[in-house]
Amino acid sequence: MLIRVEDVSFRYSRGKGYSLKNINLKVRRGEFLGILGASGSGKSTLCLTFNGIIPHSIKGEFKGNVYVKGYNTKETSVAKLSTIVGLVLQNPDSQLFNMTVEEEIAFGLENLGLDTEEIKRRIRWALRITGLEGLENEFPPNLSGGQKQRLAIASVLAMRPEVLVLDEPTSQLDPLGKEQVLSLITLLNKEQGITIILVEHNTEYLLSFADRIIVLDKGEIILEGKPKQVFEEVDVLRRLGIKIPASVKIAHELKNRGILKEVALDEKELVNKLKILTKI
Ligand SMILES: Nc1ncnc2c1ncn2[C@@H]1O[C@H](COP(=O)(O)OP(=O)(O)OP(=O)(O)O)[C@@H](O)[C@H]1O
Ligand SMILES: [Mg+2]
Repeated sequence: MLIRVEDVSFRYSRGKGYSLKNINLKVRRGEFLGILGASGSGKSTLCLTFNGIIPHSIKGEFKGNVYVKGYNTKETSVAKLSTIVGLVLQNPDSQLFNMTVEEEIAFGLENLGLDTEEIKRRIRWALRITGLEGLENEFPPNLSGGQKQRLAIASVLAMRPEVLVLDEPTSQLDPLGKEQVLSLITLLNKEQGITIILVEHNTEYLLSFADRIIVLDKGEIILEGKPKQVFEEVDVLRRLGIKIPASVKIAHELKNRGILKEVALDEKELVNKLKILTKI
């Protein structure tokens, strides 16, 4: 087990109540975990517990334990945990502060005590995998939104973390930027075997690519399971204001009319089922 969250509750120093309540969660190596929940449900707070920012840098009342590869985050530095768990935030601008794309990726590496050749190798790899080759000397603020977010991901990836935690990485991007970043995340998980923990409102994407989804409500995990199991709970998701994938909505209607047995189908499966039903 790569990450184990045991009975974690957290209350910010100035928080009114607990932002996380008795969270229990295990994340396996290579897994793709999606996190859903309304605004204020605790998604970002949970992400901050995975690399020790909570409780080390953000103070409050922390109960329970988080283990990352067996290290208890309470007893391990954020610097050490960051070599295992890479965290990418919502707004790429807040993570970019160097003069060129290459310097941005090199920045975190220089503190790891790697030799120059290894640093160069990692920069080349991170540029290639994020599709930023050729932009080495660009000034980061001049990049498009999608490129900036891919650069933020490249800088974190260059540290070779085993887990990538992404907190709404596409929320500030235009449709093309969103598509670029989501394709990159799929590739990192399916081809590079990197464990992914992703907070993302694109439920169509999670239905197709996540292995498991948790749904948070007021700091608690209220649903957990394979995407298909979670998206069967159309009423709970609606109540929380979570977007129901279009294919699930259609399947839900067809199930109510006795035409389909299953609700949670991704688009491809739904099209196939409809083809069979209509014998096209
Ligand atoms: N620094 C802080 N101090 C006090 N309370 C906080 C702080 N940060 C977040 N909270 C509270 O903790 C709860 C969970 O917030 P969090 O940011 O984790 O939610 P979220 O699910 O990420 O929401 P969003 O979808 O808006 O990003 C909210 O009630 C929020 O007001
Ligand atoms: Mg958040």
